[in-house]
Amino acid sequence: MKLVHVFALLIAITNTESFSFNAFPFLSTVATAAPTTPVVDTNPFVPKELKSVVKSVAVAGATGRTGQVVVQTLLNEGVSQVVAVVRDEEKARQVLPVSSPQLKIVKADFGTSFEQVLEGVDATIWSLSKNKNNDGLPKLVVCSSAGVTRPTWSDDKKKRLVGAADIPIVRLNPFGILDVKRESEERLREACNECNVPYTIVRPAGLNDDWPAGSRPIFSQGDVAVGRINRKDVARILVDALTTPSAVGKTFEVVAVAGYPPATTMETALSRLRTDQEGPPSDEIINAVYHTMQQLLPGEKQNSAGLAMGQTYEQMDQGKTGRLGERGQEDAASAAPKPTS
Ligand SMILES: NC(=O)c1ccc[n+]([C@@H]2O[C@H](COP(=O)([O-])OP(=O)(O)OC[C@H]3O[C@@H](n4cnc5c(N)ncnc54)[C@H](OP(=O)(O)O)[C@@H]3O)[C@@H](O)[C@H]2O)c1
Repeated sequence: MKLVHVFALLIAITNTESFSFNAFPFLSTVATAAPTTPVVDTNPFVPKELKSVVKSVAVAGATGRTGQVVVQTLLNEGVSQVVAVVRDEEKARQVLPVSSPQLKIVKADFGTSFEQVLEGVDATIWSLSKNKNNDGLPKLVVCSSAGVTRPTWSDDKKKRLVGAADIPIVRLNPFGILDVKRESEERLREACNECNVPYTIVRPAGLNDDWPAGSRPIFSQGDVAVGRINRKDVARILVDALTTPSAVGKTFEVVAVAGYPPATTMETALSRLRTDQEGPPSDEIINAVYHTMQQLLPGEKQNSAGLAMGQTYEQMDQGKTGRLGERGQEDAASAAPKPTS
């Protein structure tokens, strides 16, 4: 069975006393830190003060590019304890602010077996389900990816929504990464529902750190979003979800529109989205969302289905080839991370 391939996964623990990492068979504590003054970020998008609703947050994939920003954002928010779950302690010492007394580094020895990872995740979810503090906020926030359902679409749907179905990552789907993520999402939803753990699954479109941070996130459902978002904005959304009641039980995509400031809270936008239990939007709604999202694509040609992997919208506008070569001849395997690595 294939399973959990999700990074920048946050687990909010509101009551540290009732929580022990001994419940995690795959974790062991490795590092502590010297004192430093936490930077307090008075981010206006947080509807409730994060540190007043969670005392401790675990971050899986903490050494990743998004994960690092998630850790820093949580520290900036003044969360009492941030537990960075990592597989490489040396890398963690290099890329994480280990001098912060609020930061604890925990090694997760996932090995290469997905089975082991699932065991760990199930244990985590089960453990969290014992948490009595049901405050109506997400306790598990997962960073997945836009596009995970597209390989399963019918030929008719792929044709109708070609600008979403035929983008490079879906067309090439290296190592079946989208399938691994989709199956992981399914397992997580199932486990969270069984254990009554409030969760949120965020599916960002293309992560691009040259795209301006602090851009307006546009949330949608139906898996038709295509575009860009800066990892800083993804991290902000993952953290803000922890204090956003309308994020509970929802899976949604997000892109960011540059040059347009973010709303002060995600609550209003997310309250308009469907819960996973309500099921997906109708085909009619998905069509409408698709055509709107296509207008938000960067560049002038806005031809997402014509892109080669590694080619930017700007290069397409200028008639330039992308870094991985012509469309249809890209070496996707060399550019993509393997799902297990
Ligand atoms: N690239 C895109 O355009 C795009 C679009 C949408 C969604 N996403 C997804 O968004 C998430 C964040 O992306 P990113 O670029 O910030 O990620 P990243 O920098 O590649 O970091 C991935 C993290 O996952 C950890 N990891 C990988 N395999 C693992 C394993 N088998 N066991 C334990 N940890 C493992 C890595 O650990 P190490 O630090 O030790 O390597 C790293 O901390 C990823 O899930 C990515 O697939 C990406």
